[in-house]
Amino acid sequence: MQADYVQDVQATSSSLYQTPRVYDAAFSHRDFPAEIHVLTEWYLSVTKGEPLASVLELAAGPANHSIEYLSRGVSATALDICPQMIDYSAQKARQRGLSLRTVNANMLNFRLRDRFDMAMLLTDSACHIHTSKDMIRHLRCVGDHLNPGGLYVIELTKSSSPNYINKWSAQENGVDLSIEWGANGEDESRRTVSATTVSVSGNVEGQSIEINETIKTRSWSQFALEKAITASGSFTVARRYGDFLTGSSINDNSAPRLIYILRKNA
Ligand SMILES: C[S@@+](CC[C@H](N)C(=O)[O-])C[C@H]1O[C@@H](n2cnc3c(N)ncnc32)[C@H](O)[C@@H]1O
Repeated sequence: MQADYVQDVQATSSSLYQTPRVYDAAFSHRDFPAEIHVLTEWYLSVTKGEPLASVLELAAGPANHSIEYLSRGVSATALDICPQMIDYSAQKARQRGLSLRTVNANMLNFRLRDRFDMAMLLTDSACHIHTSKDMIRHLRCVGDHLNPGGLYVIELTKSSSPNYINKWSAQENGVDLSIEWGANGEDESRRTVSATTVSVSGNVEGQSIEINETIKTRSWSQFALEKAITASGSFTVARRYGDFLTGSSINDNSAPRLIYILRKNA
């Protein structure tokens, strides 16, 4: 399983996913409590008030969304193919006195004994699923791990949005990083699968960072994703949003994301 992932990443130094502290610092601008608040509102709205007791975060990375759920008393499991990410997320949860269940596996074909109320695939991690065949396999696998009527939340990045940002900096205690995700001129929206260049440079806690790598990614259109959802037979689209805001619309051209709330079919 690990070999598939490594084949898709060509790094000139270490890989961003294999240096989780750097990944976490680079994406620390996200407001995890606010996103979890909205996700929970959507869950309650779609399920008409069913209790949310357990979540499964796929391609979880540092698992910040899972950790936020744990802090609210919801049991959480984080799955990732990268062992460094798994170790990092478990340690991060422990430091907050929380017990995160972690699984080192491929999101395309994992097998767990537990069943969950909601699964999440966030921060455009669907870009690591490259073909429709794999997306269908993935959706069926996730569906098999949900309780009846359970939800699956998929967040895609909309690179055609005027609010899409591919260059930013991260500054916090001991962190000073410049990040570029996809070089200028790489028009991801025109290609289905592309080689995305990722550059991160600066300092994290006194350590100098220089990461330059190319990651094979897929940009999922609404059409391709919805076709795969229908073909999987596992889910029906319950809601579509353009951001982690209650009233956001997927049809707003300036919306920076495409967020799907899928409901497991009976
Ligand atoms: C863009 S990061 C997203 C991390 C996290 N979801 C977030 O919101 O910050 C993508 C993650 O997907 C993981 N990944 C890539 N391919 C995977 C696969 N086939 N199965 C499971 N995890 C995978 C990487 O190791 C990385 O941690």
